[in-house]
Amino acid sequence: MQDIRKDFPNLKEMNRGKPLVYLDSAATSLTPKKVINSELEYYEKFGGSIHRSVYELGEKATNAFENSRNNIAKFIGASKNSIIFTKSATESINLVAESWGFYNLKQGDVILLTDMEHHSNIIPWQIICKKTGAKIKYLKSTEKGSINLDDLKKSLDKNVKIVSITHASNVFGTINPIKEIIEIVKKNGSKTMIDGCQSIPHMKIDVQDLNCDFYAFSGHKMFGPTGVGVLYGKEEMLEKMHPYQTGGGIIETVSMTDSTWTTIPHRFEPGSPMAAQAIALSEAVNYLGKCFDNYDNSLNEYSLERMKSINGISIYGQAPERTPIISFNIEGVHSLDLAHFLDFEGITIRSGHHCCQPLMSALDISSCARASFYFYNNKDEVDFLIEKINKAISILK
Ligand SMILES: Cc1ncc(COP(=O)(O)O)c(C=O)c1O
Repeated sequence: MQDIRKDFPNLKEMNRGKPLVYLDSAATSLTPKKVINSELEYYEKFGGSIHRSVYELGEKATNAFENSRNNIAKFIGASKNSIIFTKSATESINLVAESWGFYNLKQGDVILLTDMEHHSNIIPWQIICKKTGAKIKYLKSTEKGSINLDDLKKSLDKNVKIVSITHASNVFGTINPIKEIIEIVKKNGSKTMIDGCQSIPHMKIDVQDLNCDFYAFSGHKMFGPTGVGVLYGKEEMLEKMHPYQTGGGIIETVSMTDSTWTTIPHRFEPGSPMAAQAIALSEAVNYLGKCFDNYDNSLNEYSLERMKSINGISIYGQAPERTPIISFNIEGVHSLDLAHFLDFEGITIRSGHHCCQPLMSALDISSCARASFYFYNNKDEVDFLIEKINKAISILK
């Protein structure tokens, strides 16, 4: 299985003079050579501004960009027109909040979130509340880091207009039972916005089957380049929405005083798009699809069991269905000190609030450490992590 490692040039790099042990893929995954080459190919062989140029180079770039949209659509079981390229999941969620929320929410309406949301799925809604008079309510996660479906049912009433929820938590690793959640929410007549940042890198997603209204994700967490994300939206929803950012490329007509919009998905992609990155994202989904078919991404159980052996450890989130993320604190050792210590051993982990300050408050902590694993990691790296954490404890405690 580990022949996959040769595809990642980064894995040959050193970190503080030590061989790199990369355990921060939930923040951003490493990039396979094929994806890097795809981006390079755009600059070497295509060029020209897409959707605007009549010359051959520009036409080639436009075709590659639109083929990428098509390929990504197929990857998640969507139609081509329901895929909008954004710069990130953050931008995708902002787009939903502004382009749907601003026009559809009013005083008295409720946006239901959970306490495990990333700031990217909280703040855009806070801003919309200020503009519309709507309110946010939070569903509290259980001790194991799960969503209780009975609690969800109790939180729903006619005022809840949208439920915006993460498919998988970037702190707990919990994979929420999103299909059941969407079914429950739909029965209430509310819309659903799913943050797929932490799920799409680990499982096959079919948005038709899920029946969500919106699904957002980022390229850089799923082997893709930085600077590109995706918003899937049901066509019938997108058709009724206004652009949230405006400029060139999204219009039908512009007069001195007003403008009309072009068709979807281009209506939501103002300005010159991130062509090289969007094209390379197509290569990333091809690569990810092959990983799903050929590799086991289950360091989950092994890493959790090994981590539990560490003295004084508190692990946050132990739901049965999880992505390979372990968030933890060790009694007497600050997570930031631990991350610095491991850095000098070549190990990269994350420490901080993980853009989840409301969840940190709910857990009554200010920060925690997080190790996250991906297809290119192996058991030896987990063992090395445990060895070095134990060394850190013996020195720092
Ligand atoms: C669950 C979740 N949502 C949203 C985001 C934001 O993604 P991006 O920074 O790529 O926009 C992240 C990134 O860490 C995340 O983990």
